[in-house]
Amino acid sequence: MEKTLVLIKPDAFAKHYSGDILKRYEQEGFRVVAMKLLKMDERLASIHYAEHIGRPYYRDLVGFMTSAPLIAMVLEGDHAIARVREINGKTNPAEAAEGTIRRQFAASGSRNAVHASDSPESAKREISIFFNETEIFDEDYHVKD
Ligand code: PPS
Repeated sequence: MEKTLVLIKPDAFAKHYSGDILKRYEQEGFRVVAMKLLKMDERLASIHYAEHIGRPYYRDLVGFMTSAPLIAMVLEGDHAIARVREINGKTNPAEAAEGTIRRQFAASGSRNAVHASDSPESAKREISIFFNETEIFDEDYHVKD
């Protein structure tokens, strides 16, 4: 079992796509083990996107990501890191495969609905940016009848 960090970005949240996006992950067999609604600030964005600092698109990316609320969540499942990125599709929706979340819900390569960790190292790092250990519910549980 693997965990990965997913963000439903401000564009998708504002357009009320969150329910459909979450349903898609659940239908693919992933379990939500942590979730919160938040507005990123510059500091959080600079930590999360540290490897992109200095890139030509960085200011636009941070401006967009800090502009409005987003949903952060941790998904758990088999090969979650690679599979969630496959389900999300390529960064640019015009290049994303049919049936992917970005193909369906993204407007452009910069307003592209979702983010997901790209490696075990980044998943560990990114999960710890948004959640502390007590906010992650990864034990087995049974709902009382
Ligand atoms: S890379 O070099 O492969 O890591 O780049 P890529 O995955 O394509 O993009 C990294 C993140 O930057 C966002 N991005 C942009 N934002 C604003 N404007 C422009 N032009 C732009 N180009 C790329 C892209 O959506 C990626 O965000 P995340 O959250 O990582 O998916």
